[in-house]
Amino acid sequence: MRDAPGATLAAVGSRAPESAAAFAESFGVVRAHATYEDLAADPDVDIVYIATPHALHHANARLCLDHGKAVLCEKPFTLNAAQARDLVQVARERRLFLMEAMWTRCLPALAEVRRLSLEAGAIGQPRFLIADFGFHKPFDPNHRLFELAMGGGALLDVGVYLVSLASMLFGNPEEMASRAHIGQSGVDEDVALLLGYGEGRFAQLTASIATETPQEAIVFGSEGSIRLHALWWKANRLTLAVNGRTAETIEAPYLGNGYTHEAMEAMRCLREGRLESPLVPLDETAAIVETLDRARAAWGLRYPGE
Ligand SMILES: NC(=O)c1ccc[n+]([C@@H]2O[C@H](COP(=O)([O-])OP(=O)(O)OC[C@H]3O[C@@H](n4cnc5c(N)ncnc54)[C@H](OP(=O)(O)O)[C@@H]3O)[C@@H](O)[C@H]2O)c1
Repeated sequence: MRDAPGATLAAVGSRAPESAAAFAESFGVVRAHATYEDLAADPDVDIVYIATPHALHHANARLCLDHGKAVLCEKPFTLNAAQARDLVQVARERRLFLMEAMWTRCLPALAEVRRLSLEAGAIGQPRFLIADFGFHKPFDPNHRLFELAMGGGALLDVGVYLVSLASMLFGNPEEMASRAHIGQSGVDEDVALLLGYGEGRFAQLTASIATETPQEAIVFGSEGSIRLHALWWKANRLTLAVNGRTAETIEAPYLGNGYTHEAMEAMRCLREGRLESPLVPLDETAAIVETLDRARAAWGLRYPGE
Protein backbone atom coordinates (compact mmCIF):
# COMPACT_ATOMS: atom_id res chain seq x y z
CA MET A 1 0.00 0.00 0.00
CA ARG A 2 2.93 2.30 0.70
CA ASP A 3 4.00 1.97 -2.91
CA ALA A 4 0.51 2.38 -4.38
CA PRO A 5 0.09 6.02 -5.48
CA GLY A 6 -2.76 7.71 -3.61
CA ALA A 7 -3.42 4.84 -1.18
CA THR A 8 -4.00 5.50 2.51
CA LEU A 9 -3.81 2.68 5.02
CA ALA A 10 -6.64 4.21 7.04
CA ALA A 11 -7.42 1.54 9.62
CA VAL A 12 -6.68 -2.00 10.75
CA GLY A 13 -9.02 -4.49 12.42
CA SER A 14 -7.95 -7.37 14.61
CA ARG A 15 -9.43 -9.89 17.02
CA ALA A 16 -7.57 -8.21 19.89
CA PRO A 17 -6.68 -4.60 20.78
CA GLU A 18 -3.01 -5.45 21.36
CA SER A 19 -2.40 -6.90 17.91
CA ALA A 20 -4.38 -4.10 16.24
CA ALA A 21 -2.27 -1.52 18.09
CA ALA A 22 0.98 -3.31 17.29
CA PHE A 23 0.11 -3.51 13.59
CA ALA A 24 -0.97 0.13 13.53
CA GLU A 25 2.30 1.21 15.10
CA SER A 26 4.48 -0.91 12.78
CA PHE A 27 2.77 0.29 9.61
CA GLY A 28 1.72 3.83 10.50
CA VAL A 29 -2.01 3.05 10.32
CA VAL A 30 -4.32 5.85 11.36
CA ARG A 31 -6.90 3.84 13.41
CA ALA A 32 -6.66 0.47 15.17
CA HIS A 33 -9.94 -1.40 15.74
CA ALA A 34 -10.09 -4.18 18.33
CA THR A 35 -12.80 -6.06 16.41
CA TYR A 36 -13.51 -6.78 12.77
CA GLU A 37 -17.04 -5.36 13.31
CA ASP A 38 -15.61 -1.96 14.28
CA LEU A 39 -13.43 -1.94 11.19
CA ALA A 40 -16.36 -2.87 8.95
CA ALA A 41 -18.38 -0.01 10.49
CA ASP A 42 -15.59 2.61 10.12
CA PRO A 43 -17.13 5.34 7.90
CA ASP A 44 -13.70 6.50 6.66
CA VAL A 45 -12.75 3.16 5.13
CA ASP A 46 -13.45 2.78 1.38
CA ILE A 47 -12.33 -0.82 0.97
CA VAL A 48 -11.30 -3.63 3.31
CA TYR A 49 -8.45 -5.99 2.41
CA ILE A 50 -9.15 -9.33 4.09
CA ALA A 51 -5.96 -11.20 4.98
CA THR A 52 -7.14 -13.75 7.52
CA PRO A 53 -6.73 -17.55 7.09
CA HIS A 54 -8.83 -19.05 4.27
CA ALA A 55 -11.56 -20.54 6.45
CA LEU A 56 -12.49 -17.05 7.68
CA HIS A 57 -12.66 -15.30 4.30
CA HIS A 58 -16.35 -15.92 3.72
CA ALA A 59 -17.53 -14.72 7.15
CA ASN A 60 -15.12 -11.76 7.17
CA ALA A 61 -16.07 -10.68 3.64
CA ARG A 62 -19.79 -11.05 4.40
CA LEU A 63 -19.35 -8.86 7.46
CA CYS A 64 -17.74 -6.13 5.38
CA LEU A 65 -20.25 -6.37 2.53
CA ASP A 66 -23.10 -6.32 5.03
CA HIS A 67 -21.69 -3.03 6.32
CA GLY A 68 -21.60 -1.63 2.78
CA LYS A 69 -17.84 -1.91 2.32
CA ALA A 70 -15.99 -2.77 -0.86
CA VAL A 71 -13.80 -5.85 -0.38
CA LEU A 72 -10.47 -7.16 -1.67
CA CYS A 73 -10.30 -10.72 -0.28
CA GLU A 74 -7.14 -12.83 -0.12
CA LYS A 75 -6.70 -16.03 -2.10
CA PRO A 76 -8.16 -18.59 -2.05
CA PHE A 77 -11.29 -16.45 -2.26
CA THR A 78 -13.29 -18.90 -0.12
CA LEU A 79 -13.14 -22.51 1.10
CA ASN A 80 -15.63 -23.71 -1.51
CA ALA A 81 -17.72 -22.57 -4.45
CA ALA A 82 -20.95 -22.24 -2.45
CA GLN A 83 -19.26 -19.60 -0.26
CA ALA A 84 -17.79 -17.89 -3.35
CA ARG A 85 -21.17 -17.69 -5.07
CA ASP A 86 -22.76 -16.28 -1.92
CA LEU A 87 -20.23 -13.42 -1.75
CA VAL A 88 -20.58 -12.67 -5.45
CA GLN A 89 -24.38 -12.60 -5.18
CA VAL A 90 -24.37 -10.31 -2.12
CA ALA A 91 -21.84 -7.92 -3.67
CA ARG A 92 -23.86 -7.74 -6.90
CA GLU A 93 -27.16 -7.24 -5.07
CA ARG A 94 -25.70 -4.42 -3.00
CA ARG A 95 -23.68 -3.00 -5.88
CA LEU A 96 -20.41 -3.22 -3.95
CA PHE A 97 -16.94 -3.79 -5.39
CA LEU A 98 -15.54 -7.26 -4.68
CA MET A 99 -12.30 -8.83 -5.91
CA GLU A 100 -10.14 -11.83 -5.07
CA ALA A 101 -6.67 -10.64 -4.07
CA MET A 102 -5.04 -12.77 -6.76
CA TRP A 103 -2.04 -10.47 -6.70
CA THR A 104 0.05 -12.53 -9.12
CA ARG A 105 -2.49 -11.89 -11.88
CA CYS A 106 -2.00 -8.13 -11.39
CA LEU A 107 1.80 -8.23 -11.85
CA PRO A 108 3.42 -6.60 -14.92
CA ALA A 109 4.99 -9.99 -15.85
CA LEU A 110 1.55 -11.58 -16.08
CA ALA A 111 0.27 -8.64 -18.13
CA GLU A 112 3.15 -9.38 -20.51
CA VAL A 113 2.20 -13.06 -20.68
CA ARG A 114 -1.38 -12.07 -21.57
CA ARG A 115 -0.17 -9.61 -24.20
CA LEU A 116 2.28 -12.02 -25.82
CA SER A 117 0.27 -15.22 -25.67
CA LEU A 118 -3.36 -14.09 -25.88
CA GLU A 119 -3.21 -10.81 -27.84
CA ALA A 120 -0.02 -10.69 -29.94
CA GLY A 121 0.00 -14.40 -30.84
CA ALA A 122 3.75 -14.47 -30.15
CA ILE A 123 3.79 -18.23 -29.48
CA GLY A 124 0.99 -19.21 -31.85
CA GLN A 125 -1.86 -21.04 -30.15
CA PRO A 126 -1.11 -21.54 -26.41
CA ARG A 127 -1.39 -25.31 -25.85
CA PHE A 128 0.36 -26.54 -22.71
CA LEU A 129 1.02 -25.01 -19.34
CA ILE A 130 3.51 -26.72 -17.06
CA ALA A 131 3.70 -24.98 -13.70
CA ASP A 132 4.54 -25.80 -10.11
CA PHE A 133 4.44 -24.18 -6.71
CA GLY A 134 5.91 -26.36 -4.00
CA PHE A 135 7.76 -25.55 -0.80
CA HIS A 136 8.80 -27.53 2.25
CA LYS A 137 7.13 -26.47 5.47
CA PRO A 138 8.14 -28.70 8.39
CA PHE A 139 5.04 -30.35 9.79
CA ASP A 140 3.39 -28.26 12.51
CA PRO A 141 -0.13 -29.31 13.54
CA ASN A 142 -0.78 -25.82 14.93
CA HIS A 143 0.06 -23.93 11.73
CA ARG A 144 -2.86 -22.97 9.47
CA LEU A 145 -1.24 -24.81 6.56
CA PHE A 146 -1.69 -28.15 8.36
CA GLU A 147 -5.03 -27.38 10.00
CA LEU A 148 -8.03 -28.78 8.17
CA ALA A 149 -10.35 -26.39 10.03
CA MET A 150 -8.39 -23.42 8.63
CA GLY A 151 -8.57 -24.78 5.07
CA GLY A 152 -4.95 -25.97 5.23
CA GLY A 153 -3.20 -27.95 2.50
CA ALA A 154 -1.40 -27.32 -0.77
CA LEU A 155 -4.38 -26.99 -3.10
CA LEU A 156 -5.94 -23.93 -1.48
CA ASP A 157 -2.71 -22.29 -0.40
CA VAL A 158 -0.59 -22.55 -3.53
CA GLY A 159 -2.52 -24.75 -5.98
CA VAL A 160 -4.95 -21.87 -6.45
CA TYR A 161 -2.19 -19.76 -8.06
CA LEU A 162 -1.62 -22.52 -10.61
CA VAL A 163 -5.30 -23.05 -11.36
CA SER A 164 -5.73 -19.28 -11.72
CA LEU A 165 -2.82 -19.06 -14.18
CA ALA A 166 -4.29 -21.93 -16.21
CA SER A 167 -7.69 -20.24 -16.13
CA MET A 168 -6.19 -16.98 -17.39
CA LEU A 169 -4.72 -18.82 -20.38
CA PHE A 170 -7.32 -21.48 -21.20
CA GLY A 171 -10.54 -20.70 -19.30
CA ASN A 172 -12.49 -23.32 -17.41
CA PRO A 173 -11.24 -26.93 -17.66
CA GLU A 174 -13.44 -29.49 -19.41
CA GLU A 175 -11.77 -32.44 -17.74
CA MET A 176 -9.54 -33.15 -14.79
CA ALA A 177 -7.35 -35.94 -13.46
CA SER A 178 -5.74 -35.42 -10.08
CA ARG A 179 -3.87 -37.08 -7.25
CA ALA A 180 -3.22 -35.90 -3.70
CA HIS A 181 -1.13 -37.12 -0.82
CA ILE A 182 -3.10 -36.53 2.38
CA GLY A 183 -0.79 -36.01 5.36
CA GLN A 184 -1.15 -36.93 9.02
CA SER A 185 -3.34 -33.93 9.90
CA GLY A 186 -5.75 -34.70 7.05
CA VAL A 187 -4.72 -31.92 4.66
CA ASP A 188 -3.47 -32.38 1.08
CA GLU A 189 0.30 -31.92 1.36
CA ASP A 190 1.18 -32.80 -2.25
CA VAL A 191 -1.08 -32.35 -5.26
CA ALA A 192 -0.86 -33.10 -8.98
CA LEU A 193 -3.51 -31.83 -11.39
CA LEU A 194 -3.91 -32.46 -15.10
CA LEU A 195 -6.54 -30.17 -16.58
CA GLY A 196 -7.89 -30.52 -20.11
CA TYR A 197 -9.41 -27.66 -22.10
CA GLY A 198 -10.18 -29.32 -25.43
CA GLU A 199 -8.38 -28.85 -28.76
CA GLY A 200 -5.21 -30.39 -27.31
CA ARG A 201 -4.79 -27.82 -24.57
CA PHE A 202 -3.59 -29.06 -21.18
CA ALA A 203 -2.29 -27.73 -17.89
CA GLN A 204 0.00 -29.90 -15.79
CA LEU A 205 0.20 -28.47 -12.30
CA THR A 206 2.04 -29.54 -9.14
CA ALA A 207 1.55 -27.97 -5.71
CA SER A 208 3.06 -28.87 -2.37
CA ILE A 209 3.57 -27.65 1.18
CA ALA A 210 5.93 -30.55 1.89
CA THR A 211 8.27 -30.61 -1.10
CA GLU A 212 10.44 -27.89 -2.68
CA THR A 213 9.87 -27.60 -6.42
CA PRO A 214 11.43 -25.14 -8.92
CA GLN A 215 8.37 -22.83 -8.90
CA GLU A 216 8.47 -22.09 -12.60
CA ALA A 217 5.73 -21.73 -15.17
CA ILE A 218 6.11 -22.37 -18.88
CA VAL A 219 3.45 -21.82 -21.52
CA PHE A 220 4.08 -23.79 -24.69
CA GLY A 221 2.40 -22.66 -27.87
CA SER A 222 2.33 -23.98 -31.42
CA GLU A 223 5.12 -21.54 -32.36
CA GLY A 224 7.15 -21.04 -29.20
CA SER A 225 7.09 -20.77 -25.43
CA ILE A 226 7.06 -18.26 -22.59
CA ARG A 227 8.91 -19.08 -19.39
CA LEU A 228 8.13 -17.29 -16.15
CA HIS A 229 11.27 -17.78 -14.14
CA ALA A 230 11.35 -18.88 -10.51
CA LEU A 231 9.65 -17.74 -8.43
CA TRP A 232 7.03 -17.47 -11.18
CA TRP A 233 4.24 -16.27 -8.87
CA LYS A 234 6.21 -13.07 -8.29
CA ALA A 235 8.10 -13.06 -11.59
CA ASN A 236 9.82 -9.90 -12.71
CA ARG A 237 11.13 -11.27 -15.99
CA LEU A 238 10.20 -13.83 -18.57
CA THR A 239 11.79 -15.50 -21.55
CA LEU A 240 10.09 -15.61 -24.92
CA ALA A 241 11.40 -18.37 -27.17
CA VAL A 242 9.91 -18.30 -30.66
CA ASN A 243 10.69 -21.49 -32.59
CA GLY A 244 13.81 -21.06 -34.74
CA ARG A 245 14.84 -17.74 -33.15
CA THR A 246 17.16 -16.75 -30.30
CA ALA A 247 15.28 -16.60 -27.00
CA GLU A 248 14.59 -13.13 -25.68
CA THR A 249 14.43 -12.17 -22.00
CA ILE A 250 11.90 -9.49 -21.13
CA GLU A 251 12.15 -7.54 -17.88
CA ALA A 252 8.87 -6.80 -16.11
CA PRO A 253 9.69 -5.34 -12.68
CA TYR A 254 6.97 -4.93 -10.09
CA LEU A 255 6.44 -2.14 -7.57
CA GLY A 256 6.97 -2.63 -3.84
CA ASN A 257 6.71 -6.25 -2.79
CA GLY A 258 4.41 -7.15 -5.70
CA TYR A 259 1.16 -6.91 -3.74
CA THR A 260 1.12 -3.22 -4.67
CA HIS A 261 -0.36 -4.00 -8.09
CA GLU A 262 -3.51 -5.64 -6.73
CA ALA A 263 -4.05 -2.61 -4.48
CA MET A 264 -3.61 -0.35 -7.52
CA GLU A 265 -6.06 -2.45 -9.53
CA ALA A 266 -8.67 -2.31 -6.75
CA MET A 267 -8.19 1.47 -6.44
CA ARG A 268 -8.48 1.94 -10.21
CA CYS A 269 -11.76 0.03 -10.20
CA LEU A 270 -13.16 2.01 -7.27
CA ARG A 271 -12.24 5.32 -8.90
CA GLU A 272 -13.82 4.24 -12.19
CA GLY A 273 -16.98 3.12 -10.36
CA ARG A 274 -16.51 -0.52 -11.38
CA LEU A 275 -18.07 -3.26 -9.25
CA GLU A 276 -15.51 -5.86 -10.28
CA SER A 277 -12.07 -6.01 -11.81
CA PRO A 278 -11.84 -7.04 -15.48
CA LEU A 279 -8.45 -8.50 -14.57
CA VAL A 280 -9.84 -10.76 -11.82
CA PRO A 281 -13.53 -11.19 -12.78
CA LEU A 282 -15.88 -12.60 -10.15
CA ASP A 283 -17.41 -15.34 -12.29
CA GLU A 284 -13.90 -16.58 -13.07
CA THR A 285 -12.94 -16.43 -9.39
CA ALA A 286 -16.00 -18.56 -8.51
CA ALA A 287 -15.19 -20.99 -11.36
CA ILE A 288 -11.63 -21.38 -10.05
CA VAL A 289 -12.96 -22.27 -6.58
CA GLU A 290 -15.29 -24.77 -8.32
CA THR A 291 -12.26 -26.40 -9.94
CA LEU A 292 -10.64 -26.69 -6.50
CA ASP A 293 -13.90 -28.26 -5.21
CA ARG A 294 -13.84 -30.79 -8.05
CA ALA A 295 -10.31 -31.84 -7.19
CA ARG A 296 -11.13 -32.20 -3.50
CA ALA A 297 -14.29 -34.18 -4.27
CA ALA A 298 -12.16 -36.71 -6.14
CA TRP A 299 -9.99 -37.19 -3.03
CA GLY A 300 -12.91 -37.14 -0.56
CA LEU A 301 -11.38 -34.11 1.18
CA ARG A 302 -13.87 -31.96 3.09
CA TYR A 303 -13.38 -29.16 5.55
CA PRO A 304 -15.25 -29.21 8.87
CA GLY A 305 -18.79 -27.97 8.37
CA GLU A 306 -18.95 -28.97 4.69
N1 LIG B 1 1.58 -15.57 3.92
C1 LIG B 1 1.67 -15.11 2.68
O1 LIG B 1 2.76 -14.82 2.15
C2 LIG B 1 0.42 -14.94 1.83
C3 LIG B 1 0.56 -14.50 0.54
C4 LIG B 1 -0.55 -14.28 -0.22
C5 LIG B 1 -1.77 -14.57 0.32
N2 LIG B 1 -1.92 -15.05 1.57
C6 LIG B 1 -3.25 -15.34 2.08
O2 LIG B 1 -3.53 -14.46 3.16
C7 LIG B 1 -4.29 -15.15 4.13
C8 LIG B 1 -3.59 -15.04 5.46
O3 LIG B 1 -2.35 -15.69 5.38
P1 LIG B 1 -1.23 -15.47 6.51
O4 LIG B 1 -0.10 -16.35 6.19
O5 LIG B 1 -0.97 -14.02 6.64
O6 LIG B 1 -2.05 -16.04 7.79
P2 LIG B 1 -1.82 -15.84 9.34
O7 LIG B 1 -0.56 -15.08 9.58
O8 LIG B 1 -2.01 -17.18 9.98
O9 LIG B 1 -3.10 -14.98 9.77
C9 LIG B 1 -3.24 -13.62 9.43
C10 LIG B 1 -4.06 -12.94 10.51
O10 LIG B 1 -5.39 -13.44 10.56
C11 LIG B 1 -5.96 -13.13 11.83
N3 LIG B 1 -6.79 -14.24 12.32
C12 LIG B 1 -8.12 -14.19 12.50
N4 LIG B 1 -8.59 -15.34 12.94
C13 LIG B 1 -7.55 -16.17 13.06
C14 LIG B 1 -7.42 -17.52 13.50
N5 LIG B 1 -8.48 -18.25 13.89
N6 LIG B 1 -6.20 -18.05 13.50
C15 LIG B 1 -5.12 -17.34 13.10
N7 LIG B 1 -5.21 -16.03 12.69
C16 LIG B 1 -6.41 -15.46 12.67
C17 LIG B 1 -4.78 -12.82 12.76
O11 LIG B 1 -4.82 -11.45 13.05
P3 LIG B 1 -5.41 -10.89 14.44
O12 LIG B 1 -4.93 -11.82 15.51
O13 LIG B 1 -4.83 -9.53 14.52
O14 LIG B 1 -6.91 -10.88 14.30
C18 LIG B 1 -3.56 -13.15 11.91
O15 LIG B 1 -2.47 -12.31 12.17
C19 LIG B 1 -4.45 -16.60 3.66
O16 LIG B 1 -5.72 -16.78 3.09
C20 LIG B 1 -3.37 -16.75 2.61
O17 LIG B 1 -3.73 -17.66 1.58
C21 LIG B 1 -0.84 -15.23 2.35
